[in-house]
Amino acid sequence: MKILVIGGGGREHAIVMSVKKSKKATEIYCAPGNAGIAQLAECVPIGVMEFDKLVAFAKEKAIDFVIVGPDDPLVGGIVDAMKNAGIKTFGPDKKAAILEGSKAFSKDLMKKYHIPTASYENFDDPALALAYLETAQFPIVLKADGLALGKGVLICQNKEQAVAGVQSIMMDKQFGNAGNTMVIEEFMTGREVSVLSYVDGKVIKTMTSAQDHKRAQDGDQGLNTGGMGTFSPSPFYTREVDEFCKKYIYQPTVDAMAQEGREFKGIIFFGLMLTKDGPKVLEYNARFGDPEAQVVLPRMKNDIIEVMEACVDGTLDQIDLVFEENAAVCVVLASDGYPLHYEKGYEIRGLNNFDGKEDYFCFHAGTKDVDNRIVTNGGRVLGVTATGSNLQEARKKAYAATEWLDFDNKYMRHDIGKAIDEA
Ligand code: AMP
Ligand code: GLY
Repeated sequence: MKILVIGGGGREHAIVMSVKKSKKATEIYCAPGNAGIAQLAECVPIGVMEFDKLVAFAKEKAIDFVIVGPDDPLVGGIVDAMKNAGIKTFGPDKKAAILEGSKAFSKDLMKKYHIPTASYENFDDPALALAYLETAQFPIVLKADGLALGKGVLICQNKEQAVAGVQSIMMDKQFGNAGNTMVIEEFMTGREVSVLSYVDGKVIKTMTSAQDHKRAQDGDQGLNTGGMGTFSPSPFYTREVDEFCKKYIYQPTVDAMAQEGREFKGIIFFGLMLTKDGPKVLEYNARFGDPEAQVVLPRMKNDIIEVMEACVDGTLDQIDLVFEENAAVCVVLASDGYPLHYEKGYEIRGLNNFDGKEDYFCFHAGTKDVDNRIVTNGGRVLGVTATGSNLQEARKKAYAATEWLDFDNKYMRHDIGKAIDEA
């Protein structure tokens, strides 16, 4: 089969690596890809939102199967565009991708179908949001309704901060139209877990669990980022938690979407918080997590194309997902200053240290090939993943491997997986 992967970050590098292992894949293309993906697939310089060009390319190359990585094109309707052109595509259509595209929608869905989540109110008038804050309890959480690169969530410790938050999201439009509507929700405490799942419209099969580190600095300080590192599995995701979530969160979400006439096919990423009152949904995403994919996919034993085709065909009940009995840790190497201001274009040295090593992976996130030199080209530059027989070993190996790489302004957190020691 000829496969086209859409996207160009670390997540897509991990997807392409899995596709490369598939017995079904004969040719792999990636749009736009990056310097690491280029070693496994043919990269084509088409942006993820250039739907007409993507469809034309898929037709020209007679692509058999398209896999969509990022949220923007999913929410924008790339799956519909491909389907209308008769091209089989993995991912939710526009109607279903709203599960990630609108936080107000997802909160209302959870409320209607009794799926556990933080209590909340939706607002499309800033005056009403400000009035609500008069009697609210703090801390409180403000969320821009739409996509905001994972940065549209503000945790406000007091009324002053919350008022400033409403101002910046709804009035100053810090996140553009994503802030036309806003969710104000209860602040929850507990451990966070990411559970990614394959869904075929009716059946859901969950993958092994993972935990992200969203803040920029050690000790969960600093600004929210796309994710600074992950580990998998999460030792806090016990059998008991899994059973609860299967019964009250996972299948109910899939059924709710079908009930609403928004049958979901693709990946549902459940961002969960394990509170003292039980697991609750923090957020839904309609795609693989980044950098969750970089620890989950290297552990998956199945042929990824077989699983994804089953999602599109509605035959996921016939698939048993199997994961290695090991653990993985991913440490993100970023450009100093990320997620605000950072420089690009520095040469990356040491990439060939990963050649031929089965339990080490260097996923490219923001890199570019300039005259046969690979240079930094983004805030998150690389994701260094190692697998090991347990989390401690995987972490040790991943941090050792970060030393094999060097570039100017290299920045990373040094406490990825610290929670492992508390398990
Ligand atoms: P989200 O994009 O909704 O996952 O939010 C980003 C991050 O904000 C989450 O990973 C949590 O760390 C935090 N967060 C979101 N909602 C809440 C909440 N209701 N209570 C506490 N923390 C939250
Ligand atoms: N790592 C979090 C996300 O992909 O949304």
